[in-house]
Amino acid sequence: MVPSSLFDTDLIGKYDVAGPRYTSYPTAPWFRPDFGVDDYLQAVARSNEAGRPLSLYVHIPFCDTVCFYCACNKVITRNRARATRYLESLHREIELQAERLVPGRMVDQLHFGGGTPTFISDGEMAALWDKLRQHFELRDDDRGEYAIEIDPRSVDREGIERLRNHGFNRLSMGVQDFNPAVQIAVNRIQPRSVTIDAIKAARQAGFHSISLDLIYGLPFQSVDGFSRTLDEVIELQPDRLSVFNYAHMPHLFKTQRQIDPATLPSPAVKLAILERVIDRLTEAGYVYIGMDHFARPDDDLALAQRRGDLYRNFQGYSTHAGCDVIGLGATAIGMVDDTYSQNHKDLESWANALAAGQLPVARGLRLDADDRLRRKVITRLICDFELDKNAIGEEFGIDFDEYFFTEMEALEALAADGLVQFERGRIRVLPAGRLLIRHVCMVFDRYLSDDRSSNRFSRVI
Ligand SMILES: C[S@@+](CC[C@H](N)C(=O)[O-])C[C@H]1O[C@@H](n2cnc3c(N)ncnc32)[C@H](O)[C@@H]1O
Ligand code: SF4
Repeated sequence: MVPSSLFDTDLIGKYDVAGPRYTSYPTAPWFRPDFGVDDYLQAVARSNEAGRPLSLYVHIPFCDTVCFYCACNKVITRNRARATRYLESLHREIELQAERLVPGRMVDQLHFGGGTPTFISDGEMAALWDKLRQHFELRDDDRGEYAIEIDPRSVDREGIERLRNHGFNRLSMGVQDFNPAVQIAVNRIQPRSVTIDAIKAARQAGFHSISLDLIYGLPFQSVDGFSRTLDEVIELQPDRLSVFNYAHMPHLFKTQRQIDPATLPSPAVKLAILERVIDRLTEAGYVYIGMDHFARPDDDLALAQRRGDLYRNFQGYSTHAGCDVIGLGATAIGMVDDTYSQNHKDLESWANALAAGQLPVARGLRLDADDRLRRKVITRLICDFELDKNAIGEEFGIDFDEYFFTEMEALEALAADGLVQFERGRIRVLPAGRLLIRHVCMVFDRYLSDDRSSNRFSRVI
């Protein structure tokens, strides 16, 4: 049970600056255009030596209608032929990637993200699975973490069953808000029955974990209105919930210009909604995992957090540490050995590279020793809400307090405010610091002083 002091209005007000979500460290704005295919291939060679298991991220960018708030990498189209062409290139990318990897490396994690992966036809989905199975060692014992993001409006009961039969065992779906007025204002009309049917179908099909996405901060939302959505969601008993903060950034996301800022809830109302979210979900037995995520206490994420082996990567929190991530599809990000690499964002450059027989790497970064150390510190803090300084010191051959002298001084101020506490060789994040965990992590982020990062990141409120 999360103590009620998880939510502290004054501290949130004081510390709510924009900050990264730390799905990587260094964060994506720091990937460099001079990191190219050769750098990537050298990383693949080192990764083959190590022989770690693999995590595959497959990006399907298409959606057939636009949700005005959306900040995802997506392409809105009703033209199915675009997906067919995209999939041809994706098959080529699978071949080119697999050619470089030594055979037999087990795929422990697989994530189809978007856009809307269920935009593609059943036949195309089946062909994509065949292609992946042909070129990668996919598990057939159902013990991998094989997840797909679905839009319940784009897939029926039989479709959900087929996804399970292909090998997916986790599913997340966009809901955002059940209130019809909110749905109209953001152009996402999704009757409650559609969501309920999708959840029932996923349960019957035997998905291990079902997750719903909600957003607070959308037009016309209020504390009472969102409470009703929360009540209805709790009744449906999803295993996990992501409750995202809507950050209105029309300068970055064009479709957000369709949202009238006058209809958005004020920061005070958003804060009150967030408080209600935490109260209602914890009362209903959900555990606050961190960032935007909640899970039932018997869900794998909550179990992994209790064991201390929760992990975080581009797909958010996960139970599979130690995989190298192969990114497939436009904009996809990989994490191979000590590098990050991102594919071309625009579909044409991505497809052209593949047509020329080249991997479509657009930018990336090789981590230095300091980056690797700080990544470990940030990952452990964001997953465990505590850090064993001695263990880090031993693993990286440093005296933690000496190496992080300035950071420890900065943490003193957070300790004085009750966000963290120092205990025999440990930094512990207190309940009031949990919602502000990114702020604690930011203390260890060497890149933040540069304003390349400003204006790109979202806030708690
Ligand atoms: C790729 S979508 C999920 C799959 C599918 N496209 C759908 O919408 O049902 C990922 C999720 O990101 C969240 N999201 C998208 N844009 C957002 C924004 N601007 N602020 C907060 N959350 C956002 C939504 O909750 C959405 O469900
Ligand atoms: S929220 Fe999902 S369905 Fe809506 S535009 Fe974004 S990716 Fe597409």
